[in-house]
Amino acid sequence: MLEVKGLTKSYGKLVAVSAVSFCANSGETIGLLGPNGAGKTTTVSIIAGLLSPDSGQVLIEGKQVQSDTDPVKLKIGLVPQDMALYDKLSAHDNLTFFAALYSLPGAKAKQAIGEALSLVGLSDRAGDKVETFSGGMKRRLNLAAALLHDPQLLLLDEPTVGVDPQSRNAIFENLETLKKRGKTLIYTTHYMEEAERLCDRIVIIDHGKVIADDTLQGLHKMLPVTNIIAIELDHADGFKPEPMLALPEVKSAELEQGTLRVGVHDLSRGTPGILRWLSENGHSYHHVSSERPDLETVFLTLTGRSLRDSQ
Ligand SMILES: Nc1ncnc2c1ncn2[C@@H]1O[C@H](COP(=O)(O)OP(=O)(O)OP(=O)(O)O)[C@@H](O)[C@H]1O
Ligand SMILES: [Mg+2]
Repeated sequence: MLEVKGLTKSYGKLVAVSAVSFCANSGETIGLLGPNGAGKTTTVSIIAGLLSPDSGQVLIEGKQVQSDTDPVKLKIGLVPQDMALYDKLSAHDNLTFFAALYSLPGAKAKQAIGEALSLVGLSDRAGDKVETFSGGMKRRLNLAAALLHDPQLLLLDEPTVGVDPQSRNAIFENLETLKKRGKTLIYTTHYMEEAERLCDRIVIIDHGKVIADDTLQGLHKMLPVTNIIAIELDHADGFKPEPMLALPEVKSAELEQGTLRVGVHDLSRGTPGILRWLSENGHSYHHVSSERPDLETVFLTLTGRSLRDSQ
């Protein structure tokens, strides 16, 4: 559906995006994850045709978008990071304006507006001015505006920034609905928990470069430890975890407040030996669980910096 090849864009001396390449198959949701200033908006703006790259190509269904009036462009919907809504107009009138931009004929526009409002849960507020909306409702209307022409490829640039948890959930449910309808989504975020929940594949960008492109599972495999087995011991006093490091698959072993935390690279290969070792050495336990490290850990491992704090 979408092929991004070697995009490069500089602002003066600053290279905002450098040789960025990735693909999205039809119906896939790709997360574009990176800290502030990583180049996410620049990349999305180039895909949407709002910005031209210094070099590189964007192919939609194998075709390069030639001009603003190219019909291929109608396959794309953009939810911009900075909202483009008219505060003094009602939600309905805002959408009428966008429908006119897409040249949707009257009857089709009416139907599309009704459907988009219903999808984002704003039908009952259609007649209210946008200035009376909460931040989350504005974000939802922003999403509705991008859906009017029924695009196959939806570019979402941090659509949940500054919204309350309830609206954030609502937006997520809307996106999950769109995903079920077979839309291809490019989801830009610096929240790894969002990328983990929604995306089939995650492209991590840092300082304008792609530093990883894989499924969540694949990204986890890059870590020295892919699972932590947490074992609550019956008698933790005096327990020494160090000898466990000699067991196959065990990468780390620590005791924290009565819970033994063992890091392994392969859960199914590591767990039996660990539990056997505990019983053979007379250590009983009353709870065993496993945890997966999150994308934050992946980012930290790849860059040595934290996703939230890095610039
Ligand atoms: N119009 C511009 N003129 C000059 N520099 C720009 C411009 N737009 C973006 N930049 C710079 O390009 C780099 C990438 O910016 P971009 O907006 O693409 O990042 P981002 O990943 O979307 O960040 P954020 O998470 O803050 O939205 C940043 O260093 C930014 O300062
Ligand atoms: Mg941005």
